[in-house]
Amino acid sequence: AVDLDLVRSIIQQYKTLPGAMLPVLHAIQDAIGYVPASAVPLIADELNLSRAEVHGVISFYHHFRQQPAGRHIVQICRAEACQAVGSEVLAAHAKAALGCDFHGTSSDGQFTLEPVYCLGLCASGPNMQIDDDLHARVSSEKFNRLVQAKRG
Ligand code: FES
Repeated sequence: AVDLDLVRSIIQQYKTLPGAMLPVLHAIQDAIGYVPASAVPLIADELNLSRAEVHGVISFYHHFRQQPAGRHIVQICRAEACQAVGSEVLAAHAKAALGCDFHGTSSDGQFTLEPVYCLGLCASGPNMQIDDDLHARVSSEKFNRLVQAKRG
C-alpha cells in the first residue's frame, strides 16, 4: 500500500514554496517511484487546488508516472541526429516488442519505455539506454538481444 504519511510529510515540506505543486510532485515521485492516485486529494487539499487541477498537471508532464515503473527503464533517443539514422523505426519496434507506448510499462512489469532527447553519442545512432547502460547503433535485432538479456 502507498505510504500516505510519507506523502503528507512531503507535502508539508514543500507547500509554502511558490508554485509548490511541481516540487511536491517531483519529491513524491522520487520517494515512491510514481505519483499514486491516492496522493491527488491530499495534494489538492493542502495546496487549495481542485483534484482536477492536480490531475491535469500530472498528466501534462509525462515525467510523472501514475503507475510504478517497470524493473528496467528503456530510453530511446528521439533527438535529431538519431532520428536521421532511424530512431523512429527503432521506437516503433520497441513499442511493438514491449507492447506499450512511450511512458508505458510492458504488461509483465519488466520494462518502462521512455523517450530521451540526446544521449551524447550523436555520431553513432540510433542510440538507447537501458537502466545505466548506453547502447549505440541499435538495430531491431540488437534491441531484442539487449532486452532479452535483461529479462534474465
Ligand atoms: Fe541521439 Fe544525440 S541525437 S544521442
